[in-house]
Amino acid sequence: MNNPAFSVLGLFDSSQQLMDAIPHVRGKALGRLEAYTPYPVHGMEEALGLRKSPVGGMVFIMGLIGAIATMAFTLWAEGIDYPLVTAAKPPFSWQAFVPIMFEVTVLFACFTSGLGMLFLLNRLPYFRHPMLRSKSMPLITRDKFALAVEYDGKALDVDAITDALRQAGAQTIEVLEQPARLGLLSPNFLMRVVLGIGISCFVAGYLTYWGVKLFPVTIPVVHMLDQPRLDPLREDSFFKEGTGMRMPVAGTVARGELPFTIAKEEDAAILVNPLPRTQSVLKTGRQVFNTHCSVCHGLLGNGKPSLTAAYGAKPANLVEGQIAQLSDGEIYYVIMRGKNAMPSYAADLSQDERWSVVNYVRVLQRAMNAKDSDLSGEARN
Ligand code: HEC
Repeated sequence: MNNPAFSVLGLFDSSQQLMDAIPHVRGKALGRLEAYTPYPVHGMEEALGLRKSPVGGMVFIMGLIGAIATMAFTLWAEGIDYPLVTAAKPPFSWQAFVPIMFEVTVLFACFTSGLGMLFLLNRLPYFRHPMLRSKSMPLITRDKFALAVEYDGKALDVDAITDALRQAGAQTIEVLEQPARLGLLSPNFLMRVVLGIGISCFVAGYLTYWGVKLFPVTIPVVHMLDQPRLDPLREDSFFKEGTGMRMPVAGTVARGELPFTIAKEEDAAILVNPLPRTQSVLKTGRQVFNTHCSVCHGLLGNGKPSLTAAYGAKPANLVEGQIAQLSDGEIYYVIMRGKNAMPSYAADLSQDERWSVVNYVRVLQRAMNAKDSDLSGEARN
């Protein structure tokens, strides 16, 4: 035998003989005990003295780490690094991230249980496990039961183990050599791992790319697009106008709205704000402002946005200087028509919402330029 022994293996005829033999050999502490049986044998773990699997604990700890890390990351990203006001919610809205937290917890837990079990606890991959070339293996997969004392970092005393197994009733003894290399970090192995991961990534990436690209345009998916339909302004003979939809009667206005005919910001000064500054109007105004305007003009209207510089334009400071002097009508005009880099909000907001936000801009202007006299009761009007 050239290499040191990997294991000494004794074969038994029945599971009972094997179970009876275990205490004899175990008491002598000759090496790591392992049993090979054609089917699971009850009570084997206890007889071999296997400790309870640590997988549960590992999964719990990694799951916890996943949950905490995700919560910390999302709160940092959304609350500190890039505070985004979404639907007027405060930036630190942890409730929104519970699904992500749940997902990552499950992800960490699954990977830990799968990979931890395979690599850490079962010591895979072990490509050249000596048992795979053992003469006893075909017998064990049929009707024999084996008890083995295996290499555990300490050289095996083959004679002593053989004696112990024979005394315990083993009929046949087999000694298995260690494979040439036991190390996991051999260049050959590392190369295979890197190659394997590389090829998997390539195949998975390639398939995902084409899958995502082709799926929406594949046959059963596109059938809905093929149905006969009338596109609103397409040419069609159905109506006498020759289009797929009838034209509205000239001068038609949406119910409850007047046509907005003012073409210049200066002319808008004549518009009168129809809404009083009541609490409910200001509440609507604040909601509209926080949702639609604050990304650019800042929550305080002072032109300090949560946008990055990539936006390119400088949103106006609404609470100071010339713009603070604009009339209600002029602000309304800007909301309707937009101005340079600011788009029109006519389609997003109802007439009442537009006037409410005008009132709220007034509140911001007053609040951002508060005077001492505002603190006394007489100034409240
Ligand atoms: C996409 C970013 C953006 C959003 C959202 C936005 N604005 Fe603006 N706003 C701007 C920019 C940029 C300017 C400066 C335009 C200029 O003078 O070139 C501006 C200017 C203004 C002005 C000053 C106009 C003037 O006469 O100089 C007012 C008033 C205004 N915005 C109100 C609002 C209101 C109210 C909302 C919400 C309904 C809103 N903005 C939403 C970007 C935005």
